[in-house]
Amino acid sequence: MQVSRVTQPASAMAATRHWPVPEERRTVSVLFVDIVGSTALVDRLDPEDVRALQQEYFGTVAAVLRRWNGVVEKYVGDAVMALFGGVESDGFDAYRAVRAGLEIQRVLDGRPLAGGTVVRLRVGVATGEAVVDLAAARDAGHGAVSGAVVTLAARLQEHAPRGTVIVCAATRRATADLIDYRDLPPATMAGKPLPVAVWRADGIALTRPTGGDLPFIGRRRELAALRDQVVRAVRERSARWVSVVGPDGIGRSRLLAELARTVRPVDGVPVRWCGAQCPPYPDVPTAPLAALLRDHTGITPGDDPADAGKAAGRWREVLLAVAERTPLVVAVDDVDRAAPEMLLFLHELFAAATARALPLVVVVTHPPEWGDLLPLGPTDRRHRLTVPPLGTVDTGRLLRYLLGESAAVTRLLPLVAGNPGYARAYAAQAGDDGHPSGEPPVPEAVRRMVAPRLDRLDGTGRAVVMAGAALGVVTAERLAHLLDGDPEQLRPVLRALAERGLLAWRSARHGYEVADRTLARVAYERLPRALRAEFCRRSAIPVPDETPRPVRLVGTTAPAASAPVAAVPPGTTVRTARARPVMSVTPATTPPLAASA
Ligand SMILES: Nc1ncnc2c1ncn2[C@@H]1O[C@H](COP(=O)(O)OP(=O)(O)OP(=O)(O)O)[C@@H](O)[C@H]1O
Ligand SMILES: [Mg+2]
Repeated sequence: MQVSRVTQPASAMAATRHWPVPEERRTVSVLFVDIVGSTALVDRLDPEDVRALQQEYFGTVAAVLRRWNGVVEKYVGDAVMALFGGVESDGFDAYRAVRAGLEIQRVLDGRPLAGGTVVRLRVGVATGEAVVDLAAARDAGHGAVSGAVVTLAARLQEHAPRGTVIVCAATRRATADLIDYRDLPPATMAGKPLPVAVWRADGIALTRPTGGDLPFIGRRRELAALRDQVVRAVRERSARWVSVVGPDGIGRSRLLAELARTVRPVDGVPVRWCGAQCPPYPDVPTAPLAALLRDHTGITPGDDPADAGKAAGRWREVLLAVAERTPLVVAVDDVDRAAPEMLLFLHELFAAATARALPLVVVVTHPPEWGDLLPLGPTDRRHRLTVPPLGTVDTGRLLRYLLGESAAVTRLLPLVAGNPGYARAYAAQAGDDGHPSGEPPVPEAVRRMVAPRLDRLDGTGRAVVMAGAALGVVTAERLAHLLDGDPEQLRPVLRALAERGLLAWRSARHGYEVADRTLARVAYERLPRALRAEFCRRSAIPVPDETPRPVRLVGTTAPAASAPVAAVPPGTTVRTARARPVMSVTPATTPPLAASA
């Protein structure tokens, strides 16, 4: 196995500085784009014209791919292969790949390039499991990814009608709520014994399902805490900020929707609500702001973002004027996806409402890693409300609602781990194919929720969770043996992972376990077979019945070979690309809501 050394993102843990597990099995999206009829095209052009055309074509394609955080893996003639989610998944890898494909078609297909030559393009996007060399995938190295998904993407591209983006079933499933697709007849492809289902991507879906079709279960404490903030804001005439924090699928959006549905007058004073959801990678970064203001100003989310930015001060005054008359809740879901202007707007709104003693409550939601989104201000007015997993009884109720009284409920309970989003995905899968016995596979939707939690860790953090998943119970000493590390450096890593809810301390077993079984399975399944076997060998547990290759781990305590690199490359211009924070060992210091509720 190739041993790679990768420097960490700048803000990563100081204790360890490189990537102990050099290759991972990952779900990735692969994009292929090629010029239609390029052989005939270059035949009739002078080499200098070919060069000018290629430079413009490759330059434009690479720029679009970069904007969507795709990595160019290789150039094959006039074809470009790009990888999404190779090193870090944000849960939207397939979406970014399709958006990049659509944008490449929009800016290049049928348009005159250098020398006036018009090119037509085909794009194919496939999603599936691959082994990724993490160092090569960061450095855009050739051969960074291996798996059938690569060939499938190439075949899809060959099959695509000119000017279109064609996707496989897995890509479509991963983006079903976000992209509109057109059915195409199944495609016969070289090397595939059966026709392959394919779809044509038409554009961004304008409506998204709300998921509010389930009865609301549990969450009485969280809802009461949020309502209490509204009551206090009205009675004390004060501004409040609540960050509702929890991992994907835990029910942040649903909690917000429930609060909106049930917001009531306080002491006879009506409370107004204005809310917005931040979509992933919006075309108009200030669209959530426009959505917030729609009821009060008549502007629409499609309005010019430049105007929206300039008018922020005026719009802040509009909301403050509303709060002067009527207590107001301003709710923004998934604020971590919002453009910086949006967060700034909310912070300034909160600051102005605080200064003017207005009854205005800002409620935002985001995953736990975004610990720094609280504004400045009095600590008793800014809170972080952590949404915990649903209890066993409530999870059971939810599963029974989804599946009826069935044996699957008991089987799924530990896998769902109190996460309603997982429950929905496992239940949908159980409905699809039953999995009457044994542990069902982790549903794709759950993988998309879990993958970013692992990927926000640096190399050591990831390796520790993977090792924990392989061993069951880990201590700093066992890990040091497993990862060629130093126990003293691994101890704070273990504590930080526990603080982030990825590991849990088990006193009875004198060690840490991966917090839930689904997370453990996703982490374990990322390990290449050779590493699984190596971990087992080093910890003297039976080697799984797989065929390992020789493997060498990169120790966790050697110094880094080169300067740290940023998690999102500098110059990335996707406006709302999440500047993914890498897990730090510093514990969050924001006041919990319970402290004042
Ligand atoms: N308390 C609950 N009772 C019933 N269903 C719930 C509850 N909480 C969440 N759900 C359902 O579980 C699914 C996931 O919840 P939700 O979308 O709110 O999660 P989230 O934390 O916002 O994460 P993401 O934004 O990644 O979906 C949704 O279908 C939602 O309706
Ligand atoms: Mg949500």
